[in-house]
Amino acid sequence: MFSGLILLQICKISECHKIEVTPDSGTIVIFTKKPGQGLDCSVCKDEGPSQTCNSILLKLTEAQPTTVTFNCSQPGDIFTVEINQEIDCLTSSCSNIAVHPDSTRFLEFTRTFTWDLKVQSGKVFQLDFPSLGMRQIKPSESCPDKHTYSITTYQRTGPANLGTFCRNGTISRVQVLYRGRVTLEVPKGTDLSPSDFKVSMGPAATALVEVDVKLPRGPFSADFFTPNYATGWYNEEKIKWNFAVKPMHNFTVHFQQYTAPECQRKTVSCDYALGDKPPFSRTPKDNQPTNEQGDFSLTLANCDAKKVAIVPGLSLNFNVEVFRSGTPYLCTVDLRNEEGLSLQIENKNPESYCEMSLNSVMQKKIVVPAGTKADLSFLDCPVQDLQLTATKVIDFPSMSACDTRTSLSIPALDPSLPVPLHQFTWLLHVRDQGTVDLMSPKGNLHQSLPDKQCNERVSMLISETEGSNIGQFCSTAESTIQKIQIKGNVSITVIPKNIKDLSQVKGPFLGVCISPEITENVIYTVSPLISGPTYTATPNWPDGMNPSLSASWIVYVPQDYKAELWFSSVNKPKCDTGHTEIIVGPLDSQGQTQSWREDQSFPGPLIQHQSFYLNMSNCEPKSDHFAVLSKIRITEGFPIFCQKNSFK
Ligand SMILES: *[C@@H]1O[C@H](CO)[C@@H](O)[C@H](O)[C@H]1NC(C)=O
Ligand SMILES: *[C@@H]1O[C@H](CO)[C@@H](O)[C@H](O)[C@H]1NC(C)=O
Ligand SMILES: *[C@@H]1O[C@H](CO)[C@@H](O)[C@H](O)[C@H]1NC(C)=O
Ligand SMILES: *[C@@H]1O[C@H](CO)[C@@H](O)[C@H](O)[C@H]1NC(C)=O
Ligand SMILES: *[C@@H]1O[C@H](CO)[C@@H](O)[C@H](O)[C@H]1NC(C)=O
Repeated sequence: MFSGLILLQICKISECHKIEVTPDSGTIVIFTKKPGQGLDCSVCKDEGPSQTCNSILLKLTEAQPTTVTFNCSQPGDIFTVEINQEIDCLTSSCSNIAVHPDSTRFLEFTRTFTWDLKVQSGKVFQLDFPSLGMRQIKPSESCPDKHTYSITTYQRTGPANLGTFCRNGTISRVQVLYRGRVTLEVPKGTDLSPSDFKVSMGPAATALVEVDVKLPRGPFSADFFTPNYATGWYNEEKIKWNFAVKPMHNFTVHFQQYTAPECQRKTVSCDYALGDKPPFSRTPKDNQPTNEQGDFSLTLANCDAKKVAIVPGLSLNFNVEVFRSGTPYLCTVDLRNEEGLSLQIENKNPESYCEMSLNSVMQKKIVVPAGTKADLSFLDCPVQDLQLTATKVIDFPSMSACDTRTSLSIPALDPSLPVPLHQFTWLLHVRDQGTVDLMSPKGNLHQSLPDKQCNERVSMLISETEGSNIGQFCSTAESTIQKIQIKGNVSITVIPKNIKDLSQVKGPFLGVCISPEITENVIYTVSPLISGPTYTATPNWPDGMNPSLSASWIVYVPQDYKAELWFSSVNKPKCDTGHTEIIVGPLDSQGQTQSWREDQSFPGPLIQHQSFYLNMSNCEPKSDHFAVLSKIRITEGFPIFCQKNSFK
C-alpha cells in the first residue's frame, strides 16, 4: 500500500533535511508537528518557485514523487508522520490484508499507521490476527516491542477507544460496529516488524464490539478492559467476549477493578453463555463463574449512565484464568533393589493433554535411572497412549567357561505404576573378548524366517550392542538351534505379539552363560530336523552382514543320515578389500573343505554325510551387501564309512 523511494539527504545549508516521498495510491502521508513544538522548523513541499511551506502540517495525497524539505536537521524530533489508508468494505466479499510498508521507511520519525474502516451500517468490520494474536493492555501501558495498536470506534456520541493492544496474545478476532480506525504507533528509531491483519465485513452486529479469545493450555491468565478504560464508558451498549477454552481445563473469571456508572435507566449486567447450560446473569458485584469448563461468552451490558464530568462511567478490568481440571495420579518407583534396571515412559500421542512429571519436574519423556527412587505424576494420561520400556544391564564377571547359567526373566515392576510394560531389553556386558552363550531354557531356539515365522506370544530380538541385529528368535517345538554364541556385548529385546502388558509373561526367556573368546563373531550350533527342512540365515538377514563379520554354523547330522545343503538365497557384494567366503568342511577336521568367494558361482546342493561346519565371512563391501539364506535337509544316507570313497 505504500511504496516508493525516499531519498535522505542533508541539503547544503546544514540546517536542512530533504526527503523524497511517493505515497502509494489510496494512501495519504501526513507530517504533523508534535504538540508543544515551536515555529522554528517548517515543512515544505516541492522546490523552487512552486515551493509551499507550512509550520504545522503537510499532507501528501498524490501518488507521485514529491520533495519534502524541513529547515531543521532533526525533523524527527519535531514532526511525526502518519500513513493513512482507507478501507471501505461495502460488500460481503470484501477482504483486505492491512500490510505495513517497508520496515525502515521514515525510521527517523515516530510513525503512526492508521487504517480507516467502514462497512454497511448495521454490519461490523472484522479484524483477524492470523498468526500471533493480540493482547490487551491498559491504555496507560506500552508494549514491550514498541508496537502499540489501538482500535477506535466512531459512534454518534463521539469517538471511543475500544482498547490498546500488543502483538502476541490470545485475541484472534475483533468485530466492531460500522466505522472505526485501527492505529499502530511505532516510536522513531524502531524498525517496523510487520504483523499483518485481515479486514473483512462481518455479520450483523449483536454488540458494539465483540472480541474472540483463544485461551492456550494452562496455567495461564489474560486481562481484558472495557472501552475508554479508566475514563469510563457511559453509553447503553453491549460488549461481548467469546472465550475458547481447551479441553481438560477449568476457567475462573475474576473482576479485578470495577467502577460502577451512575445508572439513570436499567442496570449493568453480565450475561454468561456456557456450553449446554442455560444462560445466566450476574451483577458486577457478584462472584463470577469459578472452576467451570468449556467455551463461554460474557456479554457486558451497560446501563444508560449519567454523563457528567465528575461522575465516572463504567470501567471494568477482568481476568480469565485457565488451569488443568484434573488431579494427577501419583506413584513412586523404587529401583534401588533391582540392580541395573532402568525405566522409560513416553507419551506416544502428541495431541493428548497428558502431563507427566518426574520428581515434580514436567517431562516429555520420563527416564528413571537404575538404582534410584522417583516420584512420578501423571495428569490426564490415557494408559493406551503411554509406553513403558524397561532395560536391565547385567555386567558379567570374567569368562567362566559356562559354569553358571543366568536365566533372563522380567522382574516384577511396582504394581502402582499405571502403565503396561511395552518392551523389555537386557544389555549383557562382558569383559575382554568374552563370548555370550544363549540357550533356550527349554528345548532349542528357532529363528524367525519367512518360511517359518515366530508366532509365539513373545519373541526375542538379539543384537550386537553396536546396534546391528542378529535376528529374531523364539522357542517352538520344532526349534533346531541348540546354542547361539556371540562375541562381545549383546542386547536382547522381548517383542510381544498381541500382548498389551509384557509383565504378564515373566519368562525365563533365555539362559545365558559366558565362555572364552571365539574366532567367529557368531556361532550357531544346529541340530536339523529330520521331519523337514531347516533354514539358517546370515546375521541381520535379509539385510547384509556387517563388514568383515564372520558367522559359523556347526551342524550335527545324525548317524545313518546325510544332509543336503542348499544356498537358497544369496546376495553378494562388490568387495572393496578382502573377499566374502563360504567354507564348508566336516567337523572332524580330517575331511576335505570346500570354499567359494563372491566372484565365483555358488554350487547347487552339497551333500554332507557327517556333522559339518558352514563358515561365512564378509569382506569390506564397496557396494551391495552379503546375505545368505541356506537350507539343510536331512535324509537317510549311506553309512559314514562309505563317504570318503564315494563322495567328494
Ligand atoms: C524555518 O522556516 C520558518 C518559516 O519560513 C522560519 O520561521 C524558521 O525560522 C526557519 N527555521 C530555521 C531553523 O531556519
Ligand atoms: C509470545 O509470548 C510468549 C509468552 O508471553 C513468548 O514465550 C513467545 O516467545 C512470544 N512469541 C513471539 C513470537 O514473540
Ligand atoms: C475443575 O472443575 C470441576 C468441576 O467443574 C471440579 O470438579 C474440579 O475439581 C476442578 N479442578 C480443579 C483442579 O480445581
Ligand atoms: C561391553 O560394554 C561395556 C560397557 O559399555 C564396555 O565397557 C565393554 O568394553 C564392552 N565389551 C566389549 C567386548 O565390547
Ligand atoms: C569355521 O568355524 C569354526 C567355528 O564354528 C572354527 O572352529 C573353524 O576354524 C572355522 N573353519 C575355517 C576353515 O575357518
